[in-house]
Amino acid sequence: MTEPLSPNSTSSHAAHVGAPSMRIVRDQPFAGLESVIEENKTLAPLTWYRIGGPARYFATPVDEAQLQDVAQRCSDFGIASYVLGFGANLLVGDQGVDGCVVRLAGDHWQSVEIDEKTGVVTVGAGVDVQKLVIRAARAGLSGLECMAGIPGTVGGAVRMNAGGRFGDFGSRVLTVKVMDTAGTVFTRTRDDLVFGYRTTNISARYILGATLQLEPDDPDDIAKRTRDIWMYKRNSQPPMSAHCAGCIFKNPPDASAGMLIDRAGLKGLRVGNTEVSTIHANFIVAHPGATCADVLKLVNIIKERVYDKFQVTLESEVKVWP
Ligand code: EPU
Repeated sequence: MTEPLSPNSTSSHAAHVGAPSMRIVRDQPFAGLESVIEENKTLAPLTWYRIGGPARYFATPVDEAQLQDVAQRCSDFGIASYVLGFGANLLVGDQGVDGCVVRLAGDHWQSVEIDEKTGVVTVGAGVDVQKLVIRAARAGLSGLECMAGIPGTVGGAVRMNAGGRFGDFGSRVLTVKVMDTAGTVFTRTRDDLVFGYRTTNISARYILGATLQLEPDDPDDIAKRTRDIWMYKRNSQPPMSAHCAGCIFKNPPDASAGMLIDRAGLKGLRVGNTEVSTIHANFIVAHPGATCADVLKLVNIIKERVYDKFQVTLESEVKVWP
């Protein structure tokens, strides 16, 4: 692991931690935050892939003030920070992450306020998108049906502009509250937000929450549309219980990555304990014992074979840590 603080550095937290010597300051960057910091936390169980080594630090701040403290200490001590949602679009390296993984779980981050009159929904970053889809439908608010069957938190859905052929999360976003690595909080508004295909122009490290604009509609109609989209996915993709991270590649312009991989004859191809799904070729499924290195090897083989056959370069859409 890299030293978080060089012996000659000064830290604004030296006073905060009340450290009697530089050695203690260096070794305990999160002194006083022990209740929300774990060390050497195994990340695999926290990801959909069930793959990956430990995080040097794992932080679960309970509110914005505590997140600010964590963020500032990461900055001060030169500790790289990462934000984990449900780990549904994430591949953690076998060696783990030499930094601080932050997870925004708990009541503060999971608040949902629905204004049924205006259709404005205010959500915390840790809200489960699937639960939100159901709550919005029950409240007679339409616009999130396209998210049916896409696992993730609001923070992850904003960051990645999660979605699929039926629409994306970003199209519903009015504002996004964020915090940068210095701990400064600000709000991005619709007029300066750009949501592209699995991308946004949000550069701040931490997404704290968002407001969404939904449209009033008949709850039964919304529920039916949600069910239909969910069924489409259920019939064309590996089950939610499969260990994978959704589609592994972005669709190239005017083409389907899944169709290209399928037509290249790669369904069922294995590297170690990872396999190109036999149901939908744009999914790599991990069987017990699979490693991140295996998945990445398979990704490269797929890219090569698809390029050889169709001269199309596939681009991965899954985040890889570190
Ligand atoms: N196809 C094949 N073989 C396959 C897979 C697909 O021939 O193995 C064909 C299908 O028959 C269809 C076409 O390819 O004609 C497109 O397939 P699909 O309808 O499954 O849509 P997709 O473009 O592969 C996209 C998103 C999914 C999302 C679905 C449904 C991407 C890369 N994928 O899939 O998102 O669930 O639409 O909304 O944008 C994800 O991003 O993680 C993801 C899974």
